[in-house]
Amino acid sequence: MARLLEGKVAVVTGAGAGIGRAHALALAHAGAKVVVNDLGTDRHGAGRGGQAADLVAAEIQAQGGEAVANHDTVATREGVDGILWAAQSKFGRVDVWVNNAGILRDRTLLNLTDEDFDRVLEVHLRGTFLGTQVAARAMRVQGQGGRIVNTSSLSGLLGNFGQGNYGAAKAGIYGLTRVAALELERFGIAVNAIAPVAITRMTNDLKMFAGSTEADMGPQHIAPAAVFLASPLADGITGQVLGVQGSKIFLYRMETTDGVEKDAAKGPWTPEEIQASWAKISA
Ligand code: NAI
Repeated sequence: MARLLEGKVAVVTGAGAGIGRAHALALAHAGAKVVVNDLGTDRHGAGRGGQAADLVAAEIQAQGGEAVANHDTVATREGVDGILWAAQSKFGRVDVWVNNAGILRDRTLLNLTDEDFDRVLEVHLRGTFLGTQVAARAMRVQGQGGRIVNTSSLSGLLGNFGQGNYGAAKAGIYGLTRVAALELERFGIAVNAIAPVAITRMTNDLKMFAGSTEADMGPQHIAPAAVFLASPLADGITGQVLGVQGSKIFLYRMETTDGVEKDAAKGPWTPEEIQASWAKISA
């Protein structure tokens, strides 16, 4: 039986560790040729090293798959051009692009520095914008559609203490996913996001994982969602945010309440009327 992604070429950013590594292994297992991108930073974005990406590419090759390592940053135009070039020069095309690379610089809002804000936005939000754009442009030229899978987070979608920079970036990725899905549909390019929760070096010191094991909450639980979204099984699905937390899968949706309307002839709402109607507005 043909594998789900036989003959497809997939890029995974930040694939040298954690969730990205699991995505890369699973996409290769499904038959894709994989560009394993990773700058090789620590979890705060410091340092760099090619070894992380090299090891994962070697792991895929050892299992009989096809992979190439790439060490560019997702945070610059030159970096994402280099990642695309790795796919095109080695495998001739790109069909799937998974924006996954990320760093953390947690501080409460009152203590957040400009540097911590900018670096986190650069890797997550700018990196996702650049990756989505270079991938979509290449896919449009190829004329056979494509799949883009972004990585959001409950921090951006629901809020999380101490993550103003990260939450803003991840909420931005939600908005970008929704807009890109609308704009790219006419080229047959689907854009979805995953909001994962998994034990990785990014999260292994969080209290929420106390009592959980790798088996319960490891990145291997997230990767099937990326393969699904990258494959024909997800035909017709775009603009969605899939929450994956261990063995639980669900959708995140922006909610609006029914609200209340005032007769426009009676003029705009007054602040006092808004207060008086608050129970209905918020119901
Ligand atoms: P991780 O720290 O294990 O892996 C992230 C990888 O991205 C690292 O290998 C790092 O070297 C690479 N990277 C960092 N900056 C880069 C850059 N500029 N260019 C290329 N590669 C770069 O983290 P994890 O947990 O696997 O996170 C993966 C994604 O999932 C991130 O976007 C993260 O924000 C997101 N996420 C993870 C959650 C979790 O529970 N682990 C929760 C919500 C979201």
